[in-house]
Amino acid sequence: MNVDIFTLFPEWFEWLSAQRHIANVTATGSRIECVNFREHTPLGAGQVDDTPFGGGAGMVLRVDVLDSALRARYGVDPVELRAARRVIALAPGGRLLDDGLVDELASEPELTLLCGRYEGFDERIIEHFASDVVSIGRYVLSGGELAAMVLCDAVMRKLPGALGDERSAEEESFSAALDGNPEYPHYTRPAEYRGWRVPEVLLSGHHERIEQWRRERSSERGARRSLPPDESVPPTR
Ligand code: 6GU
Repeated sequence: MNVDIFTLFPEWFEWLSAQRHIANVTATGSRIECVNFREHTPLGAGQVDDTPFGGGAGMVLRVDVLDSALRARYGVDPVELRAARRVIALAPGGRLLDDGLVDELASEPELTLLCGRYEGFDERIIEHFASDVVSIGRYVLSGGELAAMVLCDAVMRKLPGALGDERSAEEESFSAALDGNPEYPHYTRPAEYRGWRVPEVLLSGHHERIEQWRRERSSERGARRSLPPDESVPPTR
């Protein structure tokens, strides 16, 4: 998978690229590349944003700047680009990232991520250049970079070879193997600590009973999550 990230802060992504599961997939043919769109601005003094028409606080990323940057990168009119690859604008009001969308994106050979700053994108960027608008939650971050990292982390760990043990990604939270429920609880040594004992069944060596216990705990957690907020028990994790 090739991921291009359009950002004003390309150096932030060096940390992401150094993470083990990302490094594992980039060592086997995937790559993450950043494009600093300030370097492609047709305006003077590295200008990329401007004040909003109609007034109001903050600055808005200019459509002509993103047009130049995308055109420089791909050599086509960006209006055509989104038919050929997913061009994802990261913005708080977008489609919420969940395991289903992560799977969908993990099957794409190419992704382009657009990170906004300030008050966000000129709406014409979204309307004419983006194929998707994605959000990581209903709260506002100072820019799209952290959201882009969250998306990359979640998507790239699904790629073959990302995790040391391929089974890690099969039976994990929200996977089809667990009917979309959160994962069951895990325990490791010591079997007893300060009087807190690991559930006996896990020490029994009885694989079917363990399997059944895990499934029950997983669906229990799923049911608890879907209760209305005032009836829900505080989450254990
Ligand atoms: Cl994708 N961007 C920004 N700026 N804030 C967010 C977000 C994205 N997702 C949640 N909050």
